Amino acid sequence: MSKIKKIAVFTSGGDAPGMNACIRAVVRTALYFGCEVAGIKQGYQGMIDNNIEDMNRHSVSNIMQLGGTILKTARCLDFKTDEGMQKAYDNLKKNGIEALVAIGGDGTFTGAERFSGKYDIPVICVPGTIDNDLYGSDFTLGFDTATNTVIEAIDKIRDTAESHDRLFFIEVMGRDAGCIALRAGIAGGAEAIMLPEKDTAIHELIEMLEHGAAQKKSSSIVIVAEGDKNGGAFSVAKKVKEMFDFYDTKVTILGHLQRGGSPSSFDRILGSRMGFAAVKALLKGENRKMVGLRSNEIVLTDLKEALTDHEFKLEEDLMEMSTILA
Ligand code: F6P
Repeated sequence: MSKIKKIAVFTSGGDAPGMNACIRAVVRTALYFGCEVAGIKQGYQGMIDNNIEDMNRHSVSNIMQLGGTILKTARCLDFKTDEGMQKAYDNLKKNGIEALVAIGGDGTFTGAERFSGKYDIPVICVPGTIDNDLYGSDFTLGFDTATNTVIEAIDKIRDTAESHDRLFFIEVMGRDAGCIALRAGIAGGAEAIMLPEKDTAIHELIEMLEHGAAQKKSSSIVIVAEGDKNGGAFSVAKKVKEMFDFYDTKVTILGHLQRGGSPSSFDRILGSRMGFAAVKALLKGENRKMVGLRSNEIVLTDLKEALTDHEFKLEEDLMEMSTILA
């Protein structure tokens, strides 16, 4: 075990349920192994602004059940500049910080990769994003909770869709990745799912809906990922309505409610495991790695590898199943 005296933790990019469980695990694991701990507020922005506070066991009491992040978060452009990064480094040194745990998505990882390549402060990253779109981990923190939130919304919308014999288009988050759309669509029994990874032409969607109508479905639900190439739920609904007006049509955009809420048990445990593993990795002398979960084992992946533009693939079996079971 190396002699790191002080570790800092921060969250960056979009918040995700489970981040607090991870912060708690980082703080308590580091203290257990005899390190001091600091929390950096608002991610990279807080590093630049010296918004850094020492933490103890009690700083993380009663936070496991909370959504969001007690350390707050930001998307920071200044950290992309050399001056911004230098300021951040100077502030970390001033606070005696010798290693970092960064919790966030690919933007956070890109910053961490550049920073740890330039300065003598090792960084271990934890994948925290509801999108589930990072290479090297089967699941990211927050994805499970967000998917459950979407399923709850679909169930409620189905009640009213069925009562009024309506067709609903529900837009869910995912600019580049359709993981939430696919899983929530299957679990919510959606009639069709529109994904950024798979071009579904409007006429194909209409065929699916006509098929449902022919089978006497009096209502239907279509899940549209925000990154779908047809331009989002309003646009898809408009195009469908022009060619197929069998149903009264409504649109619901779920938006940021998908990012909030108390984390599921899965995300609480995943956050705890990843925070624990991140500190242990730093103490073993690891640097520029991402902690991930693969086949229920905690593994480390090089940040460079995690950030390589891997062709992101949704599970083929889920894609096939979603159309057959609809
Ligand atoms: O990356 C998480 C995410 O929620 C995406 O699904 C979504 O496209 C984006 O963040 C929204 O970002 P913001 O909260 O900055 O508008």
